[in-house]
Amino acid sequence: MLSYNSISTPTTPSPNPSNGIRVGASTSAVINNSLQSTPSVPKEVAEIRLNLANDWKVLRSVHQMLVDEKAFCANPDEWHEKIVNFVQPEELKKLIDLKIEENQKYSLEEIQKICQQVIKYSVKTSHGRFHNQLFGQMDPYGLAGSWITEALNTSAYTFEVAPVFSLVETEVVRKVCELCGYGQGDGIFSPGGSISNMYGVVLARYRSFPNIKSSGMFGMPPLVLFTSEESHYSFKKAAHWLGFGVDNCVIVKTNAKGQMLPEDLEIKIIEAQGQGKIPLFVNATAGTTVLGAFDDFNRIADVCQRYGLWMHVDACLGGSALLSYKYRNLLKGLERSDSFSWNPHKSLGTPLQCALFLTRHAELLPQANSTAVHYLFQQDKFYDISYDTGNKSIQCGRKIDAFKFWIMLKARGYGSFGRLVDHALDMSKVFMDKLRQRPGFRLVLDDYQYGNVCFWYVPKAMREQTEDDKWRQKLYEVAPKVKELMIRQGTLMLGYSPLQYRNIGNFFRMVFTCFPIMDESELDFILNEIERLGDCTSLSNGCL
Ligand SMILES: Cc1ncc(COP(=O)(O)O)c(C=O)c1O
Repeated sequence: MLSYNSISTPTTPSPNPSNGIRVGASTSAVINNSLQSTPSVPKEVAEIRLNLANDWKVLRSVHQMLVDEKAFCANPDEWHEKIVNFVQPEELKKLIDLKIEENQKYSLEEIQKICQQVIKYSVKTSHGRFHNQLFGQMDPYGLAGSWITEALNTSAYTFEVAPVFSLVETEVVRKVCELCGYGQGDGIFSPGGSISNMYGVVLARYRSFPNIKSSGMFGMPPLVLFTSEESHYSFKKAAHWLGFGVDNCVIVKTNAKGQMLPEDLEIKIIEAQGQGKIPLFVNATAGTTVLGAFDDFNRIADVCQRYGLWMHVDACLGGSALLSYKYRNLLKGLERSDSFSWNPHKSLGTPLQCALFLTRHAELLPQANSTAVHYLFQQDKFYDISYDTGNKSIQCGRKIDAFKFWIMLKARGYGSFGRLVDHALDMSKVFMDKLRQRPGFRLVLDDYQYGNVCFWYVPKAMREQTEDDKWRQKLYEVAPKVKELMIRQGTLMLGYSPLQYRNIGNFFRMVFTCFPIMDESELDFILNEIERLGDCTSLSNGCL
């Protein structure tokens, strides 16, 4: 608890206009000087006020600390550095003093030491050998943009508090609408792909049933969402959060490549109608999370048109193909959709989070989401209030996620990102060729549409054995074991996954992103490392 000693702020003008208190003056002098004035300031508060300018110095060391701890490892010469110093949770609790106390304070030097420890034991996701998620290394321009917006600490709701950033967001949305063929569409940056997908569901519902905004879904027949078995789980979450119920998120079958079967979609729509339900929304995916599959948007659009359903495309992963010169075709038919989601923080290297929701129905975004709050969105402001984009959002305060992306596009031109996407996907094809040629490696699918390459490694000791169920169970244990070794040794990070709906066990998932920019020797390193660790695992646990 704070001790509320009766002290007050100085009454005389201060030589330091920034905080009203002379920096370096002793607290007691300040306290004595200001006894006459009101209101009173508790002693501790006065001390914090006195030291505030000094506290800001903590920021000066942050960049150097990150560099010293090899947080970025942008240069391939540094990729021998560890990606992570892995320590089990209980051990880590002992290494970093996590407890937050009522009165214990730490000096600037101690805080710097703690920050250094935190960086030391964190995963260096910008290390060129981090391929564990759908995102990889960051674009440094993106990080610069991100730091600027963090430092300016504002919110995206009004032009009043985010003048430049409001214009930046508008420009990015305009450009993406132009690139995807939405013409007069609109959009908004959201706090992630899952939320963008929910925006799609909300707009679909609002278009068909605007009264739901005021009266809710009570007494209505169930509304149904359709998405494929390969699609992201956020649609089930949307069904729960938005009151559809997970049972009304109907799962559509896929073909061998992981693409939604339009024939099965149609069957499921008719089935739902037969049950007295209302088919509302179809999600097609551009780049599924595991296999990187792209649905056939034209065929799905045909079905949606026939039954009057909203077509959303979850392009959180594959939306970056919009910029590509060689692989833009993957998104053929996207222009027929009603909305789509795209996370530039995945393939492009924009710092997390950077997620866009776009719709061709510009008018629906504010209509569905505005609540006409006049303390924030006053209608009698002295500027063009169409730049107060908060009306379109489900959030009130909203981070500035457009700027870091915009500054990357300014720095390089969006054409460069097209070339980078092309290179990443080209390298994924080279990687597949290498997998086909190397003994012991097996692709899960014959081919992949995007930058996710899924494969198994069969350790030498297993290669001559009969490939029965027991053998397969052993194979499925290889990826988790190799992964454990990778993390313990800090040499490489690759994801692994099963495909439960296909009854397939664990395999590796290598994800190609714009950054790091890969070359063949790096692909060889990855395969050599998996071989080294995989053969070690199969022999004994001694190598752990
Ligand atoms: C295809 C797809 N859609 C949506 C999402 C969700 O995005 P977010 O993690 O930003 O919520 C993911 C996340 O990996 C994804 O792969």
